[in-house]
Amino acid sequence: MPAPILEVKSLKKRFGDSIAVDDISFDIQPGEILGLLGPNGAGKTTTIQMLLGLVTPTAGSIHMFGLDLATHREQILQQVNFSSTYISMPYSLTLEENLWVVAKLYGMTDIARRIDEVLKKVEMEDSRTKVTRRLSSGQMTRLALAKAILTEPKILFLDEPTASLDPDIAHKIRALLKEVRKSSGLSVLYTSHNMKEMEEMSDRIIFLQKGKIVAQGTAQEITQRFGQRDLEEVFLKLARES
Ligand SMILES: Nc1ncnc2c1ncn2[C@@H]1O[C@H](COP(=O)(O)OP(=O)(O)OP(=O)(O)O)[C@@H](O)[C@H]1O
Ligand SMILES: [Mg+2]
Repeated sequence: MPAPILEVKSLKKRFGDSIAVDDISFDIQPGEILGLLGPNGAGKTTTIQMLLGLVTPTAGSIHMFGLDLATHREQILQQVNFSSTYISMPYSLTLEENLWVVAKLYGMTDIARRIDEVLKKVEMEDSRTKVTRRLSSGQMTRLALAKAILTEPKILFLDEPTASLDPDIAHKIRALLKEVRKSSGLSVLYTSHNMKEMEEMSDRIIFLQKGKIVAQGTAQEITQRFGQRDLEEVFLKLARES
């Protein structure tokens, strides 16, 4: 098996008296899509924030590309990107200008061509001169995704990437992520409360509950292990037992 592109060991985050992430370990292989599943408050976003270096872990280690995030933050984050429902981009800039800022921050070249390409992929070419403030929530989500794939990252962290998308666009975005994964070997860690999407997208799933990993494996392995028909039933079973 190739060396993992991301390796998390005994990761923990405490906020005051409460533990948001409680001693979790996992890895992601090159080209793998890993789904992070769990009820509200399970610790998914906190985990992603630690992986992005936005929240400092209380304990544990994070390695990407064989490097320690604690000591090689800049080098690692250059090859990483993310998107989240709660991402906020400068509202007074146009969609296109926002992408230019990101491209410049990452030191990209051939920016105009790449922006054209990405806007086409998320079907936003017609809105390129629209001021970000005026985008609908689904359009904001697509802009956030455009921003995430623009820099051709090796790992993408997606926190509820399809939450506000209509079914047609959500379907296209899933197809797009699979295509990028196939063409560039992208690894993805993402969260979603849409169980069908989890089943369709994830090579492997980690189920978090109260900060701990309570199940992991393929969707099929997990549903079989819990004796349920599908992932949704497993989710309901685990969430209601707690
Ligand atoms: N900055 C913070 N300060 C204090 N507590 C926090 C902070 N951020 C998160 N938490 C707490 O950590 C726990 C995990 O939150 P987190 O946002 O990681 O959950 P989640 O799995 O992403 O949930 P959701 O499905 O609702 O997005 C929650 O109990 C939350 O209240
Ligand atoms: Mg969250």
